[in-house]
Amino acid sequence: MKKIDRETVQRILDTADIVEVVSDFVHLKRRGANYIGLCPFHNERTPSFSVSKAKGICKCFSCGKGGSPVGFIMEHEQLSYNEALRYLAKKYNIEIKEHEMTDKEREEASERESMLAVNEFALNHFEQNLSETDDGRDIGLAYFRERGINDASVKKFRLGYSLDKRDDLLTAAKNKGYNEKYLIDTGLCYKADNGRVYDRFKGRVMYPVFSVSGKVVAFGGRTLRKDKDVAKYVNSPESTVYRKSYELYGLYQAKKSIVQRDKCILVEGYMDVISMHQSGVENVVASSGTSLTEGQIRLIHRFTENVTVIYDSDAAGIKASLRGIDMLLAEGLNVKVLSLPAGDDPDSFAQSHSASELEEYLERNETDFIRFKTAILLQGVENDPIKRAKVIGDIVRSISVIPDDITRSVYVKECSRMLDIEEKVLTLQIAKIINERAVKEAGKTQYQSRDNEDVAVAGNAVIADVAGRLPDRKTAEDSAGDVSRFLYPYEKEVLRYVLKYGMLDLCEACDENGNTFPIKVIEYIDDELRSDEIVFTNSGFARTYGEALNVSRATWQQDYDRQAEVLTARRLETIAKGEEEIRLTVSDLGSIAAREKALETKADNEYLESVASFSAMYIERILGSSPDDTVRQITTDLVSEKYVLSKVHTKYTKVETEQDRLADLVPRALYEWKDAILDCRIRELHRRIKEVSSQPDADGTQLRELMIQNIELMRLKSEFAKYLGERIVAPRK
Ligand code: UTP
Ligand code: MN
Repeated sequence: MKKIDRETVQRILDTADIVEVVSDFVHLKRRGANYIGLCPFHNERTPSFSVSKAKGICKCFSCGKGGSPVGFIMEHEQLSYNEALRYLAKKYNIEIKEHEMTDKEREEASERESMLAVNEFALNHFEQNLSETDDGRDIGLAYFRERGINDASVKKFRLGYSLDKRDDLLTAAKNKGYNEKYLIDTGLCYKADNGRVYDRFKGRVMYPVFSVSGKVVAFGGRTLRKDKDVAKYVNSPESTVYRKSYELYGLYQAKKSIVQRDKCILVEGYMDVISMHQSGVENVVASSGTSLTEGQIRLIHRFTENVTVIYDSDAAGIKASLRGIDMLLAEGLNVKVLSLPAGDDPDSFAQSHSASELEEYLERNETDFIRFKTAILLQGVENDPIKRAKVIGDIVRSISVIPDDITRSVYVKECSRMLDIEEKVLTLQIAKIINERAVKEAGKTQYQSRDNEDVAVAGNAVIADVAGRLPDRKTAEDSAGDVSRFLYPYEKEVLRYVLKYGMLDLCEACDENGNTFPIKVIEYIDDELRSDEIVFTNSGFARTYGEALNVSRATWQQDYDRQAEVLTARRLETIAKGEEEIRLTVSDLGSIAAREKALETKADNEYLESVASFSAMYIERILGSSPDDTVRQITTDLVSEKYVLSKVHTKYTKVETEQDRLADLVPRALYEWKDAILDCRIRELHRRIKEVSSQPDADGTQLRELMIQNIELMRLKSEFAKYLGERIVAPRK
């Protein structure tokens, strides 16, 4: 896909209205300045999804999802950044001028794109074989018909046939100018030991595998031969475009129905998916014969929280896949299972029953996974205490991975009954497992988990600064994580001011000639951070802050000028229109002058207000639509507030908003942060002092140096305490 030029991107972002965009998927009601509705990202009965027209963002206060129009569409429609922009462009009839890619962009894109292009060619080629060649019709299509697959399904799943010739696709593709390299990279062809290249899928019926967004990333080819020495299915190998553990067969065709029914049915094979679709049950995907992976589970979770796994009835198969189901539970999904009558698989069952029979069977026979697992495992071990204990341990572990407390406690009750064990005992056991796991996993905070290395490095800088040298590696890592975690809320607060109010004037400063000029919030903060050599230790924050600085420098002035021009024109227009009206309606000259003066004041105020709101929104608007996932998410999180304090003007009181008090709040947030850094340094210093003095041959000079540092830090600390205690109103400068 080609890149969209910057100007068009800007136009799309400017045009997209969050309320309109969200309204396509969520029924919104007005509440105060905002709109609310039921969150489309999780199941809920009372609305916690809030949309702010003014801010241009939406956010669920229960599950945390949401964002700018682009962010919302990416999440909801499961599209990439570029695809989401295209979606919005289409919605608002904005024409996209395709820009030519640079050499570098082309090179990066070309490998992947070439592979996708050759897959697309093969898809069409196999489809044509099926309907337009004699062999295709007589062998391929005849096979599908015999299996009960109708033409509509053939079309929907784009089934095809690969002719029984060793180079049919190879030759056709090369004739069309496709490079042999990509035929091999995608696995459509392979190089044999003799050095020659052959079609991989020769003589097979073809099942294309589509990615979520509908690109053909792989193929499965089924043999029509009955002999046992031929693999039933040959599948495309892993490649740049096909990472098996991140794809699910049928998801592209099923995703709409999964969202509508809020449930995903999981089956094993290609034929299961197709036959169920044909019977009208479309929320079905297949893991394609292998056990489920975490990547696949995440993929499902994007669309629903409810999964039903259908089993063939053989018990061995069930036991083998129990573990995969624990992974579903751990991801927070509600898992049900369903077994089919003996001898049936989803394909045969769907083919031999009417659509309504199938629906009814599904509805009636779903069971809760934990209950199901308990029953299965308990079979035959009732009288063997040791085996029984093992089963109990196993089930307890399954329950312990469920993230939600309430769901967990429901299962505890249930199992206590089924296993005839006191609830308390189970609860305790589960608590123990959860604790152990928590200890193991401690150290991951929300935004850090993406790249812990940055954190460690930044954290080290803080500590190294204090200790005068880098502490040994192990403690450095530990304390870097600690420092980052400790500073997290302080960094977050300062970053919040940057994102929400960055381009607003905070205070005035003087140059040498005594001229005053305004200092913006972001300039003030940057100045302070630089002069004290402070950096954000949480890497996501650091990245977001860096982006904010970039924006304030790179595009701000130009955008501001353009906006000011528009607003000036609007101001003049307001005045011109108003004057005309005054002249038409008022006759005495004295009151004309007074009215005109009032008109001008009003237009001026409107102008100033618009400029202020443009400035206030500037950074969050751009970063809230950033192509960088981390930056976008952090921005959305930090700028949306649960309770918006609205300005209340009465005759006597005016409730001040945060924006009114920035001159007080921003310096304060910086001080609190610095104070926290100081605490870290002091703590680290004390650790060092203890370490040095506990050595038998303690180095007196070193110890004395550390003590001096300690005194200095304590002095700073008391200065900060004084500042923070006094609640200074005006920032110093
Ligand atoms: P099945 O053997 O159940 O296949 O394997 P199926 O889809 O029901 O096909 P029919 O009904 O025999 O035509 C389940 C899935 O396991 C994978 C395929 O994805 C298949 O759909 N599989 C199976 C392979 O990848 N290779 C094989 O040799 C067999
Ligand atoms: Mn089958």
